[in-house]
Amino acid sequence: MADKVVLVVGGGGREHALCMGLSESQHVTQIHCSPGNAGTVSLAMNHSVPASDIEGLLNLAKKVSADLVVAGPEAPLCAGLADRLSEQGIPCFGPVAALAHLEGSKLHAKEVMRAADVPTAAFHVLEKGSDLDAALDDFAGQPWVVKRDVLAGGKGVVVTADRVEALAFIRSSIESDGRVLLEQFLPGEEASMLVVMDGSGFVCLPASQDHKRAFDGDNGPNTGGMGAYCPAPVVTEEIRDLTVQTIIEPMHAYLRGLEQPYRGVLYVGLMIPKSGLPSVVEFNVRFGDPECQITLPLIESDLFELLHAAATDGLSQMKVRFSHLHAATVVLAAEGYPQSPVKGRLIRGMPSERLSFSAGEAWVNHAGTGQNADGELISTGGRVLSCSAIGPTLEDAVEMAYALLNTIDLEGSHFRKDIGFRAL
Ligand code: AMP
Ligand code: GLY
Repeated sequence: MADKVVLVVGGGGREHALCMGLSESQHVTQIHCSPGNAGTVSLAMNHSVPASDIEGLLNLAKKVSADLVVAGPEAPLCAGLADRLSEQGIPCFGPVAALAHLEGSKLHAKEVMRAADVPTAAFHVLEKGSDLDAALDDFAGQPWVVKRDVLAGGKGVVVTADRVEALAFIRSSIESDGRVLLEQFLPGEEASMLVVMDGSGFVCLPASQDHKRAFDGDNGPNTGGMGAYCPAPVVTEEIRDLTVQTIIEPMHAYLRGLEQPYRGVLYVGLMIPKSGLPSVVEFNVRFGDPECQITLPLIESDLFELLHAAATDGLSQMKVRFSHLHAATVVLAAEGYPQSPVKGRLIRGMPSERLSFSAGEAWVNHAGTGQNADGELISTGGRVLSCSAIGPTLEDAVEMAYALLNTIDLEGSHFRKDIGFRAL
């Protein structure tokens, strides 16, 4: 393999990390990113086709003669990007729409888990006319978990001990979506397991943990993720083996038996109780963001080889090597994130650009960044950037990431000061 051209779809920190990883591949000579951000522009050619324009992306892939398309976010996959590329014979890292539905519909995910006999929380589907009180009574005594059955950009789940709030969210979701899921609350610690799969096999990447709440100590509103680290010690070897036996193997067996196998990464959100079996909290059909930023640097094997193998059913032939180092990333969020982020502010004090993951030196993953008319770096999103590092211990990685973050100035911004606290 030589002179390979890759198109990365998306424009966040995850896609910047994908571009960094792919740029280290010995096979890749050209990277295109659409829409990209102010970080990907140093590694890739940015294009202006939005991730929602499936025909536009297909045309772009053909125009640049892409050997591989790597889908960052879930929305284009749910809208059929992989299906359209497959019709044209272009390998896509990311599943076809019918399988992307695992993330697009929580009910569908539950039905697949039931069919594959995979452990997950008990649930009720509630619609107009359902006995809401009986359902709430059924899971009384712990917080109620209410999940909308649509792609809701991280705003589709309410976990609350307040019955009135639970009922109100159930009612409004039935009103807008026609139905809603009420789930049994699972106690425990969460972790993310990213599993690269295709029809021939699967590869579990080292487990990670992200920090979804906006403020220190896991307080405040839910966000897309304020930081992450990898590996997560809560996933011991025993938990990992149990997860593979009870979740990953049955899911892979189920998915490979379908008309089109799953080709991409399955993000398995795990709840790990103090004792007993891990359960699935959610599936996503993409790399997590920011989990991607700290998982890819620990893959020692060539990233293009891995992603291309998964897109073409070649995984069973691959032996993937991982580093024994630790990685951490801390997200710098705009003022007002997550409710109403202030955009368009100048970002000052940026270090000189690092184009590769390097142990001993931290780097910036751009996310919501762009340039103003004067060519200055400005914020364009809620999660603006993250500082990432790898080191011999988690402490080292966290310290390097914070040291870098502290040099960057963005008016009104905030970040968590306790990334990795569960493991430290
Ligand atoms: P989801 O979008 O399904 O991942 O849910 C968002 C967050 O809600 C998860 O990351 C968990 O923190 C929490 N959550 C979801 N389902 C449950 C559950 N059954 N028990 C406890 N917490 C949950
Ligand atoms: N960091 C959580 C996610 O990407 O869904």
